[in-house]
Amino acid sequence: MIKQVVLVCLILSTACFNIFLATIIFVTTSFATTNNHPLENIVFSQDPASLQRGAMIYYDVCRICHSMKYIRYKTLQEIGLSNKQIDTLRGDKPENSTPEKTTSDHMLSTLYGQVPPDLSLMAKARKHGPQYIYTLLTSYTENEGKYENPVFPGIKMPDAMNIAVAINESSKEEIKNQAKDVTEFLLWASDPRASIRKKIGLYVIIYFSILSILLYFVMKRVWSRLDNVES
Ligand code: HEC
Repeated sequence: MIKQVVLVCLILSTACFNIFLATIIFVTTSFATTNNHPLENIVFSQDPASLQRGAMIYYDVCRICHSMKYIRYKTLQEIGLSNKQIDTLRGDKPENSTPEKTTSDHMLSTLYGQVPPDLSLMAKARKHGPQYIYTLLTSYTENEGKYENPVFPGIKMPDAMNIAVAINESSKEEIKNQAKDVTEFLLWASDPRASIRKKIGLYVIIYFSILSILLYFVMKRVWSRLDNVES
């Protein structure tokens, strides 16, 4: 009888642990509409090629107005950029420097009434950050010569990716891919250690699964000896 109870407890605890992990994975990867903005349900893969393209788009486009003060150039090695590529991006700035915006704060506040925020932690700072950023970048439209963002009405940021003036559907798709790449990059930048943590998490799941199986056999052995003693 005790044997069965222990067996059931062991199976139940393993099942509960796995349900717990599955719930965490589901909650952290699910997304929804938030902040009254209908967000695009895009899934982000953190694929290295996409991260590298995204870094370049940040560097060429977003950096005109946005700094990334928590990302050092040399950290870009982690997404697969070579030292040579990083040195080219860094230019004559010191080894430990971080990307600074190329327009002065004074000019930006004159043009937009405020200094645009730093982008290092933006993907974490907004609810459903990556979907928020992607939607923001891709929702600009042109209406009788006026550019607006119907999903984020009143936003002071101009149409940085020029999606409102895309000449046809295929160039619009191309811009959407670029918006996804730069968002992938901002998602990585907001937590550069995330992929290492996920890998460790996977090893922990495998470790616990093997441990559960081994414990099951150990328990069977121990109880079989006790059964023999009883009889
Ligand atoms: C020409 C200047 C300019 C460029 C280029 C630019 N931005 Fe912005 N951005 C702004 C300004 C101004 C704001 C502040 C908008 C506001 O609060 O109304 C802003 C705000 C933002 C925000 C925060 C929105 C919020 O919820 O507060 C995000 C995210 C953002 N930009 C992403 C980007 C990305 C990604 C790029 C590159 C693809 C980019 N921006 C390029 C000017 C710019």
